[in-house]
Amino acid sequence: MKVVHTIEELRDQLRGQLRVAFVPTMGNLHPAHLALMKLARQHGDPVVASIFVNRLQFGPNEDFDQYPRTLASDIEKLERERDVYVLFAPNEREMYPEPQNFQVQPPSDLGGILEGEFRPGFFGGVSTVVLKLFSCVQPSVAVFGKKDYQQLMVVRNMCRQFQLPVQILAHETVRDADGLALSSRNVFLQPSERAEAPQLYSTLQSVATGVLAGGSDVASLEGQAAQTLASRGWDVDYVSLRRQRDLLAPSPQEILSGEPLVVLAAAKLGATRLIDNLEVCKK
Ligand code: PAF
Repeated sequence: MKVVHTIEELRDQLRGQLRVAFVPTMGNLHPAHLALMKLARQHGDPVVASIFVNRLQFGPNEDFDQYPRTLASDIEKLERERDVYVLFAPNEREMYPEPQNFQVQPPSDLGGILEGEFRPGFFGGVSTVVLKLFSCVQPSVAVFGKKDYQQLMVVRNMCRQFQLPVQILAHETVRDADGLALSSRNVFLQPSERAEAPQLYSTLQSVATGVLAGGSDVASLEGQAAQTLASRGWDVDYVSLRRQRDLLAPSPQEILSGEPLVVLAAAKLGATRLIDNLEVCKK
């Protein structure tokens, strides 16, 4: 695997390549990232991964400084798996040599809801860096995890609206045996919090079960779920049942008629904020 730090080196490595499959990450790689690389390998050649902790997508009171930076061990993991041909690991100066005055602004009905409501500017920061990374790597395929469901949707819509010739592939959420979705932020959980953390997924499962059993009162399904988490010590940002196609709230009619849904949640356990989601489809 070649490790490059500049856009010039990256372009040298990729000259003439027409089927590049790309996996953008912020590093601190875990098995879910490695699964994205494996999927990338099935859909393109060569596979390029990036590691860049993107300041633009962090709010002023968020964990940009604390975000785990583990480049040496990330490289070891990628070397061991042998799926990635080039790792692009730019520093901040390389990606943002000057203030980023041109930025992608996702529409508020997608970028301003759910995560966007609690993390203002987050999807603008994500879209901007993803567009820049796409411009550096020029992939034909890029892989994103479904754990960041809204991010996946924002990126897909951005590609469609800017007519970017990149096919976006989604990988299912990878979970530990107890259901906790893998995330770089799980390392921040204290042992007792780690033991409680799978409750987020169990709560999503109860909402799904409620819908599949014929429940259509969204407010009560969401409210019960949020209350369960709160009673166990979680600080809940949202538990929300949405339509898969646009992340808007479904009507009771749509729920009953089998509209594909997704329940999404974000909540803090101690100082660590976790997100998760579960698709709900009536057969
Ligand atoms: O999901 C992530 O790790 C980041 O949001 C991404 C897509 C690499 C952009 O910084």
